[in-house]
Amino acid sequence: MRVLVLLVLGIGVAAQAETAPGVVDQCAVCHGPDGISRWGEIPNISGLPEVVVANALYDFRGSTRPCRRPACVAEATCPDLDMCSIAKPLSDAEIDVIARYYATQPFSVSVAEFDMALAVQGADLHAAQCEECHSGGGSDPVDEASILRGQNIEYLRNAFSDYRSGDRLGEAAMLERLRSLSDDDVEALLNFYASPMN
Ligand code: HEC
Ligand code: HEC
Repeated sequence: MRVLVLLVLGIGVAAQAETAPGVVDQCAVCHGPDGISRWGEIPNISGLPEVVVANALYDFRGSTRPCRRPACVAEATCPDLDMCSIAKPLSDAEIDVIARYYATQPFSVSVAEFDMALAVQGADLHAAQCEECHSGGGSDPVDEASILRGQNIEYLRNAFSDYRSGDRLGEAAMLERLRSLSDDDVEALLNFYASPMN
């Protein structure tokens, strides 16, 4: 009987999480209707771990993470907003609903150009320094360390730069490694994350 009750609850929670909360309508303009952005500096957010989306929104709300105004603002193809102003009015409850919603959507890999020789170097660097937390070559949401493989590359380039400069906070063990990389190492890793899974 107990098993049955848990099962029913489980289904209830899943069904609830898949219904798009109204607040995500305003996210679609930049992040795409399915959380897949057509602008390289705006990340794909569908399929990211729940905790990553929630942490990001809490950090943007508190302005403790850089909030770039995307180039589409200058082109007037998206509203003149940045993530700090977007997150500011969100309540904790709204953030939790948004994070749960995006975490239940599938991640979609962006197609990008990449250099094969650099991608091979990047694969080695990733295996040695990043795989322990970013498993599956940076593609597995289960380890709760976001998704790197197939993420938009301009966005990732900015993320590397923010962590290395100290503008974005992160796990000490990761920051130490990111800061000891050379600029060439960073390029190699970006080419690896842009390369298709095989
Ligand atoms: C005006 C365009 C725009 C809108 C609208 C927008 N975003 Fe963003 N979002 C961005 C940009 C640009 C970044 C990257 C910021 C940077 O790199 O400095 C970003 C980053 C994020 C991230 C970080 C992802 C990660 O991997 O850490 C999350 C989560 C996010 N947005 C969620 C949302 C949600 C939820 C909404 C709607 C409530 C929303 N965004 C609306 C432009 C937008
Ligand atoms: C000790 C565990 C750990 C190690 C080692 C680690 N990371 Fe991370 N990384 C994380 C976690 C956890 C997050 C999610 C941070 C958050 O929620 O804000 C993350 C996030 C990131 C992000 C931001 C993704 C996004 O969506 O904005 C990048 C880029 C990144 N890591 C690159 C790397 C690279 C490259 C290496 C290897 C040189 C590495 N990490 C090693 C734990 C780690």
